[in-house]
Amino acid sequence: TVLVLDFGSQYTHLITRRLRELNIYSEMLPCTQKIADLSFKPKGVILSGGPYSVYAPDAPHVDPAVFDLGVPILGVCYGLQEIAWNNGKDVSAGERREYGHSVVRVTKHTGLAAHVDRLFEGLSHEEMVAWMSHGDKLSKLPEGFLVIAETDNAPFAGIAHKEKELYGIQFHPEVTHTPKGTHLIKNFAVNICGCKQEWTMDRFVETEIERIRALVGPTSEVIGAVSGGVDSTVAAKLMHEAIGDRFHAILVDNGVMRLNECQIVKETLTKGLGVNLDVVDASEEFLTKLKGVEDPEKKRKIIGNTFIEVFQREAAKITSRSGAHVEFLLQGTLYPDVIESISFKGPSQTIKTHHNVGGLLENMHLKLIEPLRELFKDEVRELGTNLGIPEDLVWRHPFPGPGIAIRILGEVTPEQIDIARKADNIFIEEIKAAGLYRKISQAFAALLPVRAVGVMGDQRVYDQIVALRAVETTDYMTADWFDFDGKFLRRVATRIVNEVPGVCRVVYDVTQKPPGTIEFQ
Ligand code: XMP
Repeated sequence: TVLVLDFGSQYTHLITRRLRELNIYSEMLPCTQKIADLSFKPKGVILSGGPYSVYAPDAPHVDPAVFDLGVPILGVCYGLQEIAWNNGKDVSAGERREYGHSVVRVTKHTGLAAHVDRLFEGLSHEEMVAWMSHGDKLSKLPEGFLVIAETDNAPFAGIAHKEKELYGIQFHPEVTHTPKGTHLIKNFAVNICGCKQEWTMDRFVETEIERIRALVGPTSEVIGAVSGGVDSTVAAKLMHEAIGDRFHAILVDNGVMRLNECQIVKETLTKGLGVNLDVVDASEEFLTKLKGVEDPEKKRKIIGNTFIEVFQREAAKITSRSGAHVEFLLQGTLYPDVIESISFKGPSQTIKTHHNVGGLLENMHLKLIEPLRELFKDEVRELGTNLGIPEDLVWRHPFPGPGIAIRILGEVTPEQIDIARKADNIFIEEIKAAGLYRKISQAFAALLPVRAVGVMGDQRVYDQIVALRAVETTDYMTADWFDFDGKFLRRVATRIVNEVPGVCRVVYDVTQKPPGTIEFQ
């Protein structure tokens, strides 16, 4: 195990991700972790980056006992400064802050202790492009250390102790902007720490299940909402594996899910996966509240608040029915959601209020349990496959909490829901039939609130317009429209106008994000 001590950098989880990609197990703990309280002996320690200055009075510091563990230590960015701080305190604010690409030149020390050159082994014959993001830098080489790498702006871009296996680097090897970064992490974990590359997703399942059991204890119970999306399903299945029926899943039918979705999700979770599930049909309650509402943000707020009310009511029923001691709320939060919420850049502007259930914790006095918070989407999919979740569900496109309410532009009525659902279902069916579902990141049909003239069977009609949207993206922050061939679009359009009453025209959205968001509202 490599122990990663987190000083709050946005990139810390990427260190553990790179280690997982190398099939090396790692544990990430807060930088303030007491070494005496560790339940395992790590083979090496990585001190992450962080937003602080080591010399600031309120700066976080590691338990100095980490330096007595007798295992190799690598400090990254703030971690490098932390090592220097513990070895003479010569760190200062850089005259020039450095963000972005830098060229690192590796310095060899042939003839000295063999470990010194190990970190850059196999990298030293080339200049290495690396990603810098720091304000402070070392002003002086700490006592007993050597320079192993430099850049034009940072003469101590890499340092190593002459005798001990202590290393520091100013750049971030964990980000993709440092192309050879994984090689360097491997040098540290495998060659220097002696870790074996044996870790797999199955091992993750085992350790996570043990961790959940220890956290929840022998009698407490857990509740959580499921939506049919991959994250909540994987989290629910993992929970079920860990504590069986002491985990209660709740599926709230808000009336704006996709065609037959509620039924499909129910069957998959209960019959297929054995999860203890309650389905609440609250569609009337949601639709009554949505009556007459056209504003997208109002729709989101109504759906979010109603969801919280329904969920709380249902949770109370579970408690009184079984006398259960419900202590935890499960959330399928992934790492990218975590980064957004702990960003040090300050609150970013709200473009759209994303549906979240944060309010539940305060109202219900529950503790949060987030077994997926260190994983990325592709890892969750791998985990889902390992847990036996059907392919269809594992590869499901994301679906917004407010559902097709934000894909019906204008008022959300049962008639509009019916049209939008049918059109969407045809589009997705055709995408799957053409083998394109996995190539596309997200696809759906939206219903425009205007009418257009058409001619159907010699009759003049005046009906609605369906807009199709399909995008490719990796982070959902930027996206490009998917380039279907004309025949495919013709087939979908023909089916929609023939099979969905109330629609006489189909258009395809060719707007990138930005400026167009993925959803229409
Ligand atoms: P936009 O439309 O902002 O969407 O480009 C980016 C991603 O977020 C999803 N999305 C939402 N998800 N509640 C959610 O849970 C929401 O209110 C919401 N709005 C957008 C959208 O489907 C896309 O994947």
